[in-house]
Formats: sequence, C-alpha cells, structure tokens
Amino acid sequence: MELGNNERRMLRAMLGAPARSWLLSDLLEATGWSDQVHVAGAGTTLAEAGLVEISETASRTVSLAGEGEKAASSGLLEARIWDWMQDAVAADRTMQGLFAAGFERHEAGPGVGLLKALGVRVESGSFVSDDDASIAAAIASRTSFITSLASGRQSEESFDLDLIGHFRGRKGLIAIEETTSREWQLTKAGKAIKSNDLKDVEQIGQVTPELLQGEDWKNAEFKPFDVNAPAPIPAGGRPHPMQALIERIRSVFLEMGFSEIEGDYVQSAGWNMDALYIPQSHPARTMQDTFYLTEPASIDVEPTMLDLWASVHEHGHDTGSRGWGGTFDREEACKALLRTHTTVNTIRHIAQNPDVPCRVFGIGRVFRQETIDRTHLPEFHQIEGIIHEPDANLPMLITTLKTFYAKMGYPDVRVRPAYFPYTEPSVEVEVLWRGEWLELGGSGIFRPEVTEPLGSEWPVCAWGMGLERLAMLILGLDDIRELYQPDLTRLQDMPIL
Ligand code: PHE
Repeated sequence: MELGNNERRMLRAMLGAPARSWLLSDLLEATGWSDQVHVAGAGTTLAEAGLVEISETASRTVSLAGEGEKAASSGLLEARIWDWMQDAVAADRTMQGLFAAGFERHEAGPGVGLLKALGVRVESGSFVSDDDASIAAAIASRTSFITSLASGRQSEESFDLDLIGHFRGRKGLIAIEETTSREWQLTKAGKAIKSNDLKDVEQIGQVTPELLQGEDWKNAEFKPFDVNAPAPIPAGGRPHPMQALIERIRSVFLEMGFSEIEGDYVQSAGWNMDALYIPQSHPARTMQDTFYLTEPASIDVEPTMLDLWASVHEHGHDTGSRGWGGTFDREEACKALLRTHTTVNTIRHIAQNPDVPCRVFGIGRVFRQETIDRTHLPEFHQIEGIIHEPDANLPMLITTLKTFYAKMGYPDVRVRPAYFPYTEPSVEVEVLWRGEWLELGGSGIFRPEVTEPLGSEWPVCAWGMGLERLAMLILGLDDIRELYQPDLTRLQDMPIL
C-alpha cells in the first residue's frame, strides 16, 4: 500500500519509541498535529495496512449535572433538611415547621421522602428517627460524593456502585458519559520499517491552470483519488419524491402513446357514481365513506344524463341489462362531493368524445373518509387510464398494465378476478415485491350500462391504481404517512427516482 504523508509522519513519530503504546495526546505531541482527525485518519490507514494496532477501551465518567452543581454549593436537599431537624426543637419538627424554616413546597415533599428512605418516620405529624448515626453517615457519604465531583468529571470506577445507582435515580444531579479511549501501537511489520524510508512524498493534489502552463507536472507524482472514500452528500434541492414519481409515471404513459387528461376535485354524485352504475344504495356512497359538500350542496347535472341514468339504474334502458330496480333518486345524483376516484375523469372524457378513439391517462388526487393509519390516508392519488377504441379487449388491458409496471421496474405482474359495479370482467392487478404479491389496483372492461348512456359503442379498457402504494414499494417504506411528513433529512435520503 502506498502511504500518504500523514501516515508517514505518524509512523516516523511512532518509530521514535517502537515498543510504546501511544495515547492520542502523545501522538499529537510527537507529530505536531493539533487536530486529532489526522491521528484518527492516518491511524486507521496504518491499521488497515497492518502496520499499527489500535486498541479501544470503553469507560464511563460521572459529572455533576445542573441540580448537582446546586447541591455542591448549597448542600443536598436531605442534608439541608436533616441539619434543620437536628437544630429545631421537637415541637417544630413538622411539615409546617419545615415551611416556616423557609423550605419550598416543591422541596419539602421530595426531601422528606428521601429522609424516610433513610429511616426518618412521621409520628403524629412529627419527624422522628431512631438510628441518627446511620442516617448522618449515609448523608455524609452522599455529600462527599457530590463534593468530590465538584472539581470535575471522574471515572465511574472510583465510586461505590450503590451510590452511583442512587444518584442516577434522582433527576438532574449527575450525568454519566461513555467515552472510548484509543491506544496505538506498532505491529511487528510496523516496527520493521526504517524511518529513513519514510520521506514525505511530493504529490500534486489539484490540477490548476498554473500547473499546466509550466513543465513541472511532467515529472510530478499525482495524488490518487480514492473513489470509495466516504464523502458528505451535497444537500442540494430536489423535487419531492412523490413529484418525481408522478413525473416518471407521466413519461412512461406518454411514451406508451397515451395523452393526459385532468378533472375537478368537486363532482356530482351522478358523474362520480351513477354514471358508473354504482347502485344508489352502495355502502361506499354513505357519509362514512364519501365527503359530501355543503357549499355547494348540489351541482346541476344535464337532465338528459339524469334521465338516462335513471332508466339504466331502474330497468337497464336498452343495454340488455335488467338494472338495479327501485326508483332512481335524481337529487341524490346532484349531490356535490369530493371525487372518490379518478374514474370520474375518464368517464367524463368518454361522454365528451363518444366516437373518438382514445388512449388517455390521468394522475390525480382523490378523497375518502379514511382513518389515518399505516396504509390509509383520507387524501391520496390514483393513476387512472382508459383505452377506448373499436377493438379494445381484455388481453390488451392486461398487456398495457404489464408493460406499464415493467417500465416502472416491476416485471412480475399477475391479475386476478375481482368485482367492481362498473366493469365486467373485473380484474385486480398485483405485482411481485420481495417475494409477496401486492395488490396495486383495479381494472376491467366497462359494462354496457356505463358506456351506452355515454353514447359509446366500443369496449373500454379501464384501470385505476393507487399511487402511494406504488411509491411505498419504490421507496421501500412501510408507513404511508412517511411520504408526506415534512422531514427534510428523510426526504433528502430517499432514492432519486
Ligand atoms: N375506481 C376503482 C378504485 O377506486 C379502480 C378501477 C378503475 C376499477 C377502473 C376498474 C376500472 O379502486
């Protein structure tokens, strides 16, 4: 191994007394360095080269904390109360007497507690004790402990363990610190090196214009770069991981020939649900699951649409379906809500372009009354899309989703039968992650009850997937909340997407 100048300097210093075991302070003195970083750095390199051996010993030191400093100057609480008890006349040795003597309420309680633990008793309101000598001795040893620390921190070993244990249990009196001290010693190989072979090398660490203008560089030795050396990660700005993920998904769909669509957060129940043939009695429509608005409480929906949905829901219109039966409630369909899925965007897109073939996608926020936990948020995002064209079919849908996930880095995708009121067949999409199949979304072919009232005559491949779920996979998180916590360090450390 090629040694640098710092390593050479440290070796030369140590070869001055080859058998010695060196402390940090010895090495600083012998090398003339003022910063211990040099000793630590050169020492580690020398140890890796097998020339030096480093031994570490852990030790614990005790020092006075804030309350301890006070006790050192004005006495421990139990000592002060004990002294007062010795001087007070018997009739005054009561709680009242203690207050009268100037002890604060917050001191009296704990102070008496400490003394009780030492053998003081309260009899008919008065403090009494039997073995005064042993109480005084215990207090004296505590006091001498505090006094001896007043001059500075000391090794834990120089004290009685019980005493340390006692003070650790009291708030703010002492602080215990773990320290590791190192010693450096030459190994056999280290001792065998000749000091004379350790001349400083002239190495060029930086290539400057001045250097290149001269001739010196031709024979110079260049300092090698260690590309594996740990270095600080520059903390520059970066997009939020969710934003970066959205951009990536966007470019994958654009690359696959899809166009992007958008829609409003506020929608009518009609477009969000009735258009999708979700029965008006469906549990997901209740106030426990959906955020209905009071301002506006309702939204105008085209009467022709209301008529069509009523007819489809009640008896199937001319779709060949029998419908759900019952009476369709138009007021219910006009209720305003926060969209519960982005399927409302694709459905409205078809309604506006019933005879234009399209492949569109959207990434948008949706709202559901969820209790926040590890896997749920009341606001999250969905990745939605449709293929609306004469030959759209199920294999096309599955291939599209597989291609999408493969491009996102998840080549193992499987589908399973599922149920949604608006698709038939319905398919659940799962990806393989760390050996487990995780459900990421729903999809299927829209039912005629959905497409016919919109004026479409073609099949529609449709899907809606959770963005946060995918983000958790990609970022390796197991709590969805981590995505939205404003913890800059964590965000900084998340992988660049
Ligand atoms: N809208 C469904 C959901 O919220 C997903 C889905 C979209 C299912 C399109 C089928 C077709 O989970």
